[in-house]
Amino acid sequence: MSNDALKKAVAERAVNDYVKDGMVVGLGTGSTAYHAINRIGELVNKEGYKLTCVATSVRSEEQAKSLGITVVDVNDVESIDVTIDGADEVDPDMQLIKGLGGALIREKIVAAASQSEVIIVDETKAVDMLGTKCALPVEVLKFGYQKTKYALEAQGCKATLRMNGDEPFVTDNGNYIYDCKFESIKNPFFLESRINVIPGTVDNGLFLNTASTVLISHSDGTIEKRGL
Ligand code: 5RP
Repeated sequence: MSNDALKKAVAERAVNDYVKDGMVVGLGTGSTAYHAINRIGELVNKEGYKLTCVATSVRSEEQAKSLGITVVDVNDVESIDVTIDGADEVDPDMQLIKGLGGALIREKIVAAASQSEVIIVDETKAVDMLGTKCALPVEVLKFGYQKTKYALEAQGCKATLRMNGDEPFVTDNGNYIYDCKFESIKNPFFLESRINVIPGTVDNGLFLNTASTVLISHSDGTIEKRGL
């Protein structure tokens, strides 16, 4: 099975198992969430589901709207029944790194407003300790961003400004992202508390105690479930 086939399989399983008619659904961002949004489109268009959706990025909103899915602002719903989103790393305690797709702030706000957060990943995202495979994305204000970099690196990482060609990558919120590579993140709760007090930092890609379920797609065709 190709990596994309693994993503599609886990995304479809999540939608089939967790999305019910009449729900308010949070739409994640990324190449795995992309398949979930397509499946949600099928539920709406072929199976007559009435769903109200909240998107975590402009990209996901555009995809959903192109499929005829109703998308509303997060402020216009009281709460979200379930959000289905991807992740970049998942540890054995279901702690996550997210944000390589650049949507971490909106993803975190939508996750916090959700009754349940279903994380969908292929097996390459499962790690024993966070930070061992990928960098931790940190969204920062443009103002003073080089000063913010020094403060981030004082936490023990190498911070690289994310680029889009020759220009810095700009998030949907108009900010920059530093990808902060640590050797590993032994205490994610402590690190999060240190990063979020750095002036200029908007938020970081540690999603701690956020996932209610993690579904992991394996190359032997099985889907492992952790959590609820
Ligand atoms: C976007 C994210 C994505 O969920 C994460 O990067 C995983 O993406 P993909 O499914 O493409 O591997 O956090 O901000």
